[in-house]
Amino acid sequence: MKTKVIAVANEKGGVGKTTTAINLTYELQQRGRKVLLIDNDPQSNMTRHCGTNPHSKDHITLTNLIENMINYVTGVDNGVSYEDILPPAEEVVIFKNGFEYIAANVVLEVAERALYVTPNTEQILDEIVKQYGKGYDYVIIDCRPTLSKLTLNAFVAADSVIIPIESEPYAVDGLNTLLKNIEIIKRGFGHGGLNPKLEIEGILFTMYKGRLRLTQDLEKQVKNRFGEDLNVFKTMIPTSVKAPESVLAKAAVRAYDKKNPVGLAYQQLAEEIDSNY
Ligand SMILES: Nc1ncnc2c1ncn2[C@@H]1O[C@H](COP(=O)(O)OP(=O)(O)OP(=O)(O)O)[C@@H](O)[C@H]1O
Ligand SMILES: [Mg+2]
Repeated sequence: MKTKVIAVANEKGGVGKTTTAINLTYELQQRGRKVLLIDNDPQSNMTRHCGTNPHSKDHITLTNLIENMINYVTGVDNGVSYEDILPPAEEVVIFKNGFEYIAANVVLEVAERALYVTPNTEQILDEIVKQYGKGYDYVIIDCRPTLSKLTLNAFVAADSVIIPIESEPYAVDGLNTLLKNIEIIKRGFGHGGLNPKLEIEGILFTMYKGRLRLTQDLEKQVKNRFGEDLNVFKTMIPTSVKAPESVLAKAAVRAYDKKNPVGLAYQQLAEEIDSNY
């Protein structure tokens, strides 16, 4: 069975990455898909949204898995079996509020620093995704708002990237660096990259307000600057207070309010993505 791995990333903060990861997961599940979410951000907003306290010590987190893998790479694991390094899914994947996920916590920040000083760690998240993504149709990785080692690890693990952009006048300006990084992971410097299969699933305009004129203009800007080949999703996500409300309700928008336009837009986005599966 094929598992499609999608990273949700943008180095810009607060553009709707976590909201997209959660709602896309919910909507894909509504379509009968089995989806694993991974919180790859020390802020742990996704973990909270799914109903788990990131400070709790009761569960294994992505931090533990990455630390174990670093110990393995550096040989300080003292011959511990690979099974103990990446424990069985039953001990790692949390099932709560209808979501299946690997949680994060703030210590992921420290684990990321260790990634910087340890060689050969670009594929650690890929290894984790291969281990726990078995049996899922999709794995969705929610990234932190930086182009740091954890995010680059997500690009190595992913088949594709969704780039949410807040619909505001200069939103497209920041895209250059992100696209360049994705290109380098894909192609390297002309000698093959770390992940040649990596694609851009699409640019997703989020939080548009009022009329569509600005988003149409932004779409044109994307095409003009980065080429017609860069996919911009037909679905755009409007703004609604139900989105932040649903965070507190620990639910997807459509589970919280069936008719809200944000939830309906994510339903449409899931259709757009799933029809390319
Ligand atoms: N369509 C929307 N309408 C209104 N508010 C939204 C919408 N999408 C997201 N929000 C709100 O905007 C804030 C930022 O969203 P979110 O956490 O999804 O962004 P993010 O890109 O993951 O942020 P970060 O970079 O910090 O990880 C949240 O309070 C969220 O509830
Ligand atoms: Mg986030």
